[in-house]
Amino acid sequence: MKTETTDTTGLNPISMLRSTVRAIEPYVPILPFEVLAESLGRPIAEIIKLDANENLYGPSPLVRAALSDLGFPHIYPDPENRALRKALSDFTGVPSENIFAGAGADEVIDLIMRLFIDQGDNIIDCPPTFGMYSFDAAVNGAETIVIERKDDFTLDLQAIVDAVSIHSPKLLFLASPNNPDGGLISDEELYTLLALPIIVILDEAYIEFAGIKNSRIDWVLEHSNLIVLRTFSKWAGLAGLRVGYGAFSTGLLQELWKIKQPYNVSVAATEAALASLSDSSNLLQVVSKIRSERKRLSQMLSGLPFLFPYPSHGNFVLCEVKGMNALSLHQALSTEGILVRYFDKPRLRDHIRVSVGLPQHTDFLLTILSRIAKR
Ligand SMILES: Cc1ncc(COP(=O)(O)O)c(C=O)c1O
Repeated sequence: MKTETTDTTGLNPISMLRSTVRAIEPYVPILPFEVLAESLGRPIAEIIKLDANENLYGPSPLVRAALSDLGFPHIYPDPENRALRKALSDFTGVPSENIFAGAGADEVIDLIMRLFIDQGDNIIDCPPTFGMYSFDAAVNGAETIVIERKDDFTLDLQAIVDAVSIHSPKLLFLASPNNPDGGLISDEELYTLLALPIIVILDEAYIEFAGIKNSRIDWVLEHSNLIVLRTFSKWAGLAGLRVGYGAFSTGLLQELWKIKQPYNVSVAATEAALASLSDSSNLLQVVSKIRSERKRLSQMLSGLPFLFPYPSHGNFVLCEVKGMNALSLHQALSTEGILVRYFDKPRLRDHIRVSVGLPQHTDFLLTILSRIAKR
């Protein structure tokens, strides 16, 4: 095959890129599951994937039935996602006029940036937290003002208040429960932040694992500067199908409709989400099993001399690693087919995050960690 290109125009397309794109670090792809399995020399079925906070119970059986029985995959989906928004309204108690469905919460984060960011605008990010806030800010040409969390991963409220008055940022991204530590934002903190002249995006991707009663999704009806994000990726086990949603005040949502791609949520994702909502009581029972398993996993991890877990309200447990190199521990577990998350960031260098799997995954993890402890 001929691979070289002949440049007859003298044009260098790279020099024409948006400067914001040129400034972004090169893309490092995440290895897909089958490639990972191959590199570890194990079949996929033998890999215990505890590195991305997926739901290892998988989706509702009604999802598989709905997917095998898709009526009109050859017809474009409803651009307004009416059926899904109606079902989400019944599930959340928020009117469907305030709900927006997207291809995962990730898409909604990117759309929020596109909605608000002009060149040179600022956003506030409070790391350690979910990486997509600063990533999407960079892609959309926003400056990120970093307000590090305190040592216990709680917010530095005063520093946020100060940054708002100094830099007038437009957006503040907060996850509750926060990824990676699993901490929740208190009502008092949220009220303080909502009183600031800034739009607060509260990402509740893991809220079902904290108990739905901890959600502030209906606060969007009272606070025009609040947006709440949710997803089907975690509690409903649909990470591979890409479906999430946001609740917005009415005025904001009118503007968001103007910029969305018409067919952003596929027919398959829509049907899977609808089937999940129709089976929500069973799925929430699975969530409760994951919550019990989280407790058992945390107790088991804290029994090891080199692991110090943080209390978590998510489907994962962050652990500080002491007396052992966290990267080596991560590698030793990978060799045994157990994938956990290691963060290559200064603040989290001596930490690993373990997603909550099935009881047999916890048992196997304990066997391997105990073996490592004896080395
Ligand atoms: C805090 C947080 N928000 C959003 C997401 C992504 O959600 P989705 O799969 O719906 O794009 C994740 C995924 O890990 C997350 O940790």
